[in-house]
Amino acid sequence: MRMVDFLYNKIAKPILFKIDPEVAHGMIFSGLKISSKLDIIKKLISYIYSNSSEPVLVNGIKFKNCLGFAAGFDKNAEIYDVIESFGFGFMEIGSVTLNPQQGNPKPRIFRIVDEYGIVNHMGLNNCGAIKVRKNIDKKGKPSITMGINIAKDNKCDFINAHKNISECFKILKDVGDFFVINISCPNVNSYAGNLSDYVHKIINSLREIDSEEPLFIKISPDIADNEVFDITLLCERYNCGIVATNTTKRRDIIKRRDFDKIEGGLSGKPLKNLSVNKLQKIRDTSKKVPIISSGGIFDSMDVSERKNLGADLFEIYTSFIYEGPSVVKKILNQGALKKS
Ligand SMILES: Cc1cc2nc3c(=O)[nH]c(=O)nc-3n(C[C@H](O)[C@H](O)[C@H](O)COP(=O)(O)O)c2cc1C
Repeated sequence: MRMVDFLYNKIAKPILFKIDPEVAHGMIFSGLKISSKLDIIKKLISYIYSNSSEPVLVNGIKFKNCLGFAAGFDKNAEIYDVIESFGFGFMEIGSVTLNPQQGNPKPRIFRIVDEYGIVNHMGLNNCGAIKVRKNIDKKGKPSITMGINIAKDNKCDFINAHKNISECFKILKDVGDFFVINISCPNVNSYAGNLSDYVHKIINSLREIDSEEPLFIKISPDIADNEVFDITLLCERYNCGIVATNTTKRRDIIKRRDFDKIEGGLSGKPLKNLSVNKLQKIRDTSKKVPIISSGGIFDSMDVSERKNLGADLFEIYTSFIYEGPSVVKKILNQGALKKS
C-alpha cells in the first residue's frame, strides 16, 4: 500500500495536478477504460486495493460495503467495472439525461488545491439514456450495487421535467439497482417555485411506472431548512431515500476570493460542514429515511461522524482525486466502521 501511495502522491499527482483538470481527468479516464478491457489489470487492482469491509443492507438493497463512488465520474457507464476493483461497495453512474448533452463550455473544472476543493461547471454533459443503456447491456451488470443518477434535460422546462425524467427512467430502469434523481445540479437553472411540489410530481410519475424501484432524491446543500423538512417527509411517505448533498454554489466558505466569480459547484473539504448540517436536518425530521451522505468525506473520521448522525451509506468523489485510490481502503479498513 505504501508503494502505491508513494507512486500516486509523489509521481502521478504532481504530474496530473500540473495539467488542466479536465485534461487530467480525460487521461485518467482513458487509462481506466483500457484497464476495463484487461481482466488481469482489474484483478491486480482488486488485489492491491482489497479491503476488509462488511456488507450492509439499506432499504432492502444489499451493498458490498458502505462506501460508494459519487455521481459525475463515470457519467456514461464506461468504467464501472474498474471502479469496482478499487474496493467500493457501490457506485452511481451519471448524471444521465434523456438526450445527449454537451454541457457547458470549457474550462469547467477548477482545483482549489490548498483547500482540497474542486469547482465544477460541467453542466450535465453525457451521451444520453439510450447510449448509456447500450453501454451497460454490453458490459453487463457489475458485481457491486449500481445506482443510476438521472437528471432532466437542460432544455426541458420545469413543468415537463417529470415527463422527461420518466422517459429516461423507462430506458434505464431494468439495469440499475437503485435510482437517484438529481434535482440539485448547481450548473443548470434551478427551480424557483415550491421545491417539494416539484419533487412530488417527479416521484409520483416514477412510482406510476414502477412502485417498487428504490429511489433517492439528491438535494443541494444550499436549500432552506424548511425545504429539507418538506422533502424529507415526502421521501418518507413514498419510501424514498435522500442523497445529501450535491455541490454548493457558496464561496464564502473558502479563503480564495478569486473563485467568487467562477461559476460552478464546489466540492471537497469546504463542503463538509454544509453536508453534515443537511444530514442532521434530515435525521431530525425522519428516523426512517435512508440517507447517502456525500460532500467532503476524506477519511474514516468523517464517515464515523456521519454514521453517528444516522447516515446509512457514504459517497466520495473529490477525496479520490486528492488522496488517490487508496483512500477507499484507508476509510474502510478502520475498525470504527465495522458492525458493532
Ligand atoms: C467534476 C464533478 C462532476 C460531478 N458531476 C455530477 C453529476 O453529473 N451528477 C451529480 O449528481 N453529482 C455530480 N457531482 C457531485 C458529486 O457526485 C458529489 O455529490 C459532490 O462532489 C460532493 O462530494 P465530494 O465532496 O466527495 O466530491 C460532480 C462532482 C464533481 C467534482
